[in-house]
Amino acid sequence: MDTKMIDINTIEEASQLLENGQVVAFPTETVYGIGANALDEHAVEKIFIAKGRPSDNPLNVLVPTREALYHLAENIPPYVEKLMDAFSPGPITYVLQNAGKVAKNVTGKLPTIGVRIPDHPVALHILHQTGLPLAAPSANLSGRPSPTTVEHVINDLRGKVAAIVDGGQTNVGLESTVVDCTGEVPVILRTGCITVENIKKVVGTCKLASTIQMPSHKYRHYQPEVPLILTKTAHQFHSFVEKEKKAGQRVGVIISHSVENMNVDQIFSLGRDEEETARNLYNVLRAIKKSEIDVVISAPFSSELVMDRLASAATKIV
Ligand code: TXA
Ligand code: MG
Repeated sequence: MDTKMIDINTIEEASQLLENGQVVAFPTETVYGIGANALDEHAVEKIFIAKGRPSDNPLNVLVPTREALYHLAENIPPYVEKLMDAFSPGPITYVLQNAGKVAKNVTGKLPTIGVRIPDHPVALHILHQTGLPLAAPSANLSGRPSPTTVEHVINDLRGKVAAIVDGGQTNVGLESTVVDCTGEVPVILRTGCITVENIKKVVGTCKLASTIQMPSHKYRHYQPEVPLILTKTAHQFHSFVEKEKKAGQRVGVIISHSVENMNVDQIFSLGRDEEETARNLYNVLRAIKKSEIDVVISAPFSSELVMDRLASAATKIV
């Protein structure tokens, strides 16, 4: 398939392709998404094929407005309104009872649907222009880190989608917080930059799910090209670096900015603060090349969110 590159001055082309049942990747504020008309089963099927995504992992759906969100769900608890006042449009996906409006393959066999109002001008423009709910998971090949730049999307999906819209680097850099809102208490299924504390402040209560409850958790995520060892203390970090060097391995390290020069083969710096670290994480995971190093060892990070994602990418945690 010839993949058309679209820039922000010609977004209409993206909308037309989507209306015609084609698949188009575009930026959101979290990560790039791969979108298709959520009402069209054939269009949705193309997302699973392009990503190589298992069909039992449900897709979330992007909508432009609250009204559009209400249309796709039913029995919505009153606290969802409060959450939307506080966080939408933004990096939060609400899991709600499915009203059965979208194609069946969007949600697999689940009675629920994940819906989000993105806070990005390109995504919102496309959503308003098509007037369609768009099934839009992250625009990476299944198992790879989510794409935060158009280059990442091109690497994974060129030739597999009708078009890619270039919107530069995404601002947040990590996927949305996924919150199960089907019960009395909101339950976070996937952590994101909106935290349990943030939600507690708005609703009064919020729980963090055990990872088992997330349909996607049985699949490993964000794998870099070489084994990743995640360390939980500075001591472990230094001792593993030394051990792998002694074993003759070419060693890469993932660190923040504030570490002294190290005797390793490659250094990946994530950033000075939590936001910068989150924004750079997937770029770094994708920059790791087996032609350069045999193993990568990550220092511990204070951000739980970043540690969560690193743990998901790690072959070993010590
Ligand atoms: O920030 C984001 O959420 C990005 C942008 C593109 O919107 N999308 C994204 O999509 O990260 P994806 O498919 O990579 O992650 C969505 C997660 C998946 O882990 C999926 O299992 C979960 O949401 N999910 C979707 N529908 C669900 C449902 N009905 N119940 C529970 N989890 C659901
Ligand atoms: Mg994903």
